[in-house]
Amino acid sequence: MNEAIRITRASALKPKPVDSELGFGQIFTDHMFLADFQDEKGWYDPRIEPYGPIELDPAAAVLHYAQAMFDGLKAFRGVDGKVRLFRPQKHVERMTLSARRMCIPPLDPGLALQSIVELVALERDWVPSTVGTSLYIRPTIIANEAFLGVRPAKSYVYFVILSPVGAYYPEGMAPVKIRVEERYVRAVEGGLGGAKTGANYAASLMAGEEAKHEGYTQVLWLDGVHRKYIDEVGTMNIMVRIGEEIVTPPLAGTILPGVTRDSALTLMHRWGLRVSERQISIDDVVRAHKRGTLKEVWGTGTAAVISPVGELAYRGERMVINGGKIGSLTQRLYDAIVGIQYGQAPDPDGWTVEV
Ligand SMILES: Cc1ncc(COP(=O)(O)O)c(C=O)c1O
Repeated sequence: MNEAIRITRASALKPKPVDSELGFGQIFTDHMFLADFQDEKGWYDPRIEPYGPIELDPAAAVLHYAQAMFDGLKAFRGVDGKVRLFRPQKHVERMTLSARRMCIPPLDPGLALQSIVELVALERDWVPSTVGTSLYIRPTIIANEAFLGVRPAKSYVYFVILSPVGAYYPEGMAPVKIRVEERYVRAVEGGLGGAKTGANYAASLMAGEEAKHEGYTQVLWLDGVHRKYIDEVGTMNIMVRIGEEIVTPPLAGTILPGVTRDSALTLMHRWGLRVSERQISIDDVVRAHKRGTLKEVWGTGTAAVISPVGELAYRGERMVINGGKIGSLTQRLYDAIVGIQYGQAPDPDGWTVEV
């Protein structure tokens, strides 16, 4: 598709929220990006329109069989006033992988990037300016063919919506408590775990709710077959530091290939640290804790960037990590990535794209 993007502007603009009152995902900007797909035409009619409801036939495939995919990335207003996207190409790459896994025709990567850049450019006044705040970007594809048979749909709609979001840590980075999940599983090899698709989140809700009820922020998933190897946490990838080795589970199809994970790995390799992408069992983590070599545990993800884990609960035992305090490497990674996102530090890998 090589069509120009048609723009229809909203006749009235919404009032912008105050930075200090921002939460997550409740407020949406004035416009959204849309494109349609039909088997015989491919992707067509890329356009920006006023933000609003989209029409769906009650028989639309997505409502019945969850044929859908999405991604999540952010735009930041730097200390220099410039608006930067963080690694949008990497997110677009993942959109292609998620689409393929869900039998959804992928968008042309050039168009996907353009849709994000042009929409954020039009809505740049919505990018909040306090450090920690950002504009969350949610590109999504859903199957909208009205057909109740089980097969990949023949028509889809792509949309991008934007939401200004508050600082994840308004009072500074804080360690979280995580419960290791023993009863439910999120994904198995060969399943959907590596794709960013709603079904994975639906599968995770019950465990998350039970964990919250017990006073934990989220669960740490174990592999779905042996319930032995650690996979990922809620909406974050997981990294553990045992002695001087940093271990994170490999991308074997059960966990999301996180962009923050990739960024953290790149930085740690550059810093000359010993980093391993390998399976690690929860028993090895428990053993390391008993020996006193479990130095740090943290999650990586677009929402929090880096989230220190202060406590892991497994089989009724509570492991307090680093005295429940933020570890030095956790803090170093957070500062390095946030520094690049807000234009406070050099960006040697060209991770940011200025809008
Ligand atoms: C299940 C899951 N794992 C990991 C991540 C972290 O990925 P990223 O760093 O690309 O945000 C996310 C969040 O996007 C997620 O939803």
